[in-house]
Amino acid sequence: MAKQRASLAGKPAQSLGEWSALIRKARRRIADGVLVSPCVESASLSELTGMRIFCKLDNLQRTGSFKERGARNALLLLTSAQRKRGVVAASAGNHALGLAYHGSLLDIPVTVVMPRFAPLIKSSTCRRLGAQVVLHGDTFAAAKEEADRLGREQGFTYIHGYDDPGIIAGQGTMGLEILEQVRSVEAVVVPIGGGGLISGVAAAIKARRPDVRVVGVESARAPTLTRALQAGRPVKISPAVTLADGLSVPQIGAQAFALARRLVDEIVRVGEDEIALAILRILELEKTVVEGAGATPLAACLNDKLKHLRGKRVVISLCGGNIDPNILDRVIEKGLVVDGRLTRFTAVISDRPGGLAKLSRLLAEAGASIKEVTHDRAFAGADVSTVNVLCTIETRDRHHGREVLQRLRQNGIRLFHSSR
Ligand SMILES: Cc1ncc(COP(=O)(O)O)c(C=O)c1O
Repeated sequence: MAKQRASLAGKPAQSLGEWSALIRKARRRIADGVLVSPCVESASLSELTGMRIFCKLDNLQRTGSFKERGARNALLLLTSAQRKRGVVAASAGNHALGLAYHGSLLDIPVTVVMPRFAPLIKSSTCRRLGAQVVLHGDTFAAAKEEADRLGREQGFTYIHGYDDPGIIAGQGTMGLEILEQVRSVEAVVVPIGGGGLISGVAAAIKARRPDVRVVGVESARAPTLTRALQAGRPVKISPAVTLADGLSVPQIGAQAFALARRLVDEIVRVGEDEIALAILRILELEKTVVEGAGATPLAACLNDKLKHLRGKRVVISLCGGNIDPNILDRVIEKGLVVDGRLTRFTAVISDRPGGLAKLSRLLAEAGASIKEVTHDRAFAGADVSTVNVLCTIETRDRHHGREVLQRLRQNGIRLFHSSR
């Protein structure tokens, strides 16, 4: 095992009061290095959800996520000997970025072990921020083993991404800010991965305002807290690939679980289509880029399961903005499809001159714009007088999309394989 850090107060915090005190101390400790992120009311998202939505913009932190809160707090809790030797963590994501950045600010050597499949952008950014990056193994577990080994061998202190009191207390500072920024808050909606963020935020909020509803959001593909609640203890899950990659961890942290099971009022699970659509909505309506995990709170608010929050003041934690541009591109398209604004269909049209012209005229008259078209003669079947035209069209919304297809049918065009 890597060296353990000096415990926060000599023994682990247990009561809500103790956690609340740790979070207040963390806030003072990190105040000069972490942004007090804005928490702004959104008229557009309020209109969309029927709630009064306030966005806590932790995607604006220097490295693009709330993880800096815990990382800086944990680094500042090290003894001077530990600081000198340095820290190690296994992470392919935002925790690594937060540690790398604050390690360089505080002059603490940081080593990050990433699985070999880690996105190039994350490993190169960590290096640019001054961390030593070790690429090791094909799984997160292998990277973690290597980080433990380096900790033992080099005397580095291991800093866990979520199952660590210093990390949980640091993440909890977001809750304190929310209480000050939206005094009349009635609910907060926070993503759940390993549980560090939600347990810290819930502790900060419930200690002062037990009436505020704390809602956790999981990716349906990585239900860490739900499974732990069913089993009565943290259990290993096999998370599937999800757009909310920050939530894709194999198990909720033990300390986070102990807090979350007491303090989280309800959990909503969201699917991939819902996450893609939420990213698109935030981009279009808030002019803000969030990654999948950071979009899950809006996805939850758009889900019927949170109908009871309509009319209430709800803070959603847009807690990360590190999305790969190539993924963003695909997510936007997926979101447009889910929203009914991109539709794909195959039209069977006459192969005589003017067949394609008729199709494009009908589409233009219906107000649809052609994004892609493939004119397919060779694979159009036995009838040589017809051809298949695979079309992707842009429409205003799902209703408009249906109208366009109906118009084509009314004008004698046979359609099949429509995407909606
Ligand atoms: C953007 C983002 N949101 C949410 C989470 C989940 O945080 P936690 O593991 O503390 O539950 C993460 C974790 O990496 C993240 O990067």
